[in-house]
Amino acid sequence: MTIRICVAGATGWVGKELITAICAYEASEKFTLSAAVAPSATGQDIGQVLNLASPGVIVSQTVTDALASAPTDVLIDYTHPEVVFDNIKTAVENKVCAVVGTSGLTSEDYEKIDALARQHGVGVIASGNFSLSAIWMQRLALQAAKDFSHWEILDYAGSGKPDAPSGTARELAFRLKEINTPTWDVPLDQVQGPKATRGASVDNSQVHSLRIPGFILSTEIIFGHADERLTIRHDSGTRAQAYVAGTLMAAEKANTVKGLIRGLDRIL
Ligand SMILES: NC(=O)c1ccc[n+]([C@@H]2O[C@H](COP(=O)([O-])OP(=O)(O)OC[C@H]3O[C@@H](n4cnc5c(N)ncnc54)[C@H](OP(=O)(O)O)[C@@H]3O)[C@@H](O)[C@H]2O)c1
Repeated sequence: MTIRICVAGATGWVGKELITAICAYEASEKFTLSAAVAPSATGQDIGQVLNLASPGVIVSQTVTDALASAPTDVLIDYTHPEVVFDNIKTAVENKVCAVVGTSGLTSEDYEKIDALARQHGVGVIASGNFSLSAIWMQRLALQAAKDFSHWEILDYAGSGKPDAPSGTARELAFRLKEINTPTWDVPLDQVQGPKATRGASVDNSQVHSLRIPGFILSTEIIFGHADERLTIRHDSGTRAQAYVAGTLMAAEKANTVKGLIRGLDRIL
């Protein structure tokens, strides 16, 4: 049975690639584009906007309008940190499953989404990074964390990224918390000098976000033992195709779960 997908962020860097991929699947009927959301293209045919063979889907201004326009099984959100929470809430309250690609949500936001999804009996799958090689970075870090008591996370992105830390770094910190608790030889509240230079505590890990032109997104974790270090790092490239396969995998699995799953590896 085809999975009917609404893409929020249809004109964006990732959204465009997702819609292209979904349209390519239409012949096999595995996925169908049911609706699309992008304020700048409201009222236009997304096929014409993206220069694709027309899927005949008119772009909506909001997720509420999009879900009212056509029956939908899954909302995929790649929009903006300011709107993602409300978009997911709208989907769940309409008993539509959701896949969260957009960054910016905190662990507390995810707890609320989990409760809401359970209340409405639908599944939500979120991943700070849907690329399969970033999942390896996370997996290796989770393994290493069993054996180290000292680590810190570096989060690099371009200067225009509105949110910090990245979804990749947030999720890494969240998952590390389930494995082990890092320690500091100088407690953070006893640091001499500006304490902010030691980074921000995110789910017990210190995270340092750099926003510099030239980066797309890189995430690095440095573990230390006395007199040695282990560094694990993932670097994203300039193309958004890397996120498509993992995102569509999540769309396929979303209606098989109830509540929130945070981490693509948990459905692989
Ligand atoms: N989890 C992952 O693997 C992953 C990978 C890449 C990116 N991301 C995250 O995904 C998000 C989107 O990234 P991107 O690079 O694709 O962004 P982008 O190119 O800026 O595209 C954003 C999209 O969201 C729409 N949008 C912006 N503000 C909106 C609003 N208030 N309401 C509804 N739609 C709105 C834009 O529509 P308009 O045309 O109307 O502006 C556009 O279609 C970011 O948070 C990014 O960090 C996550």
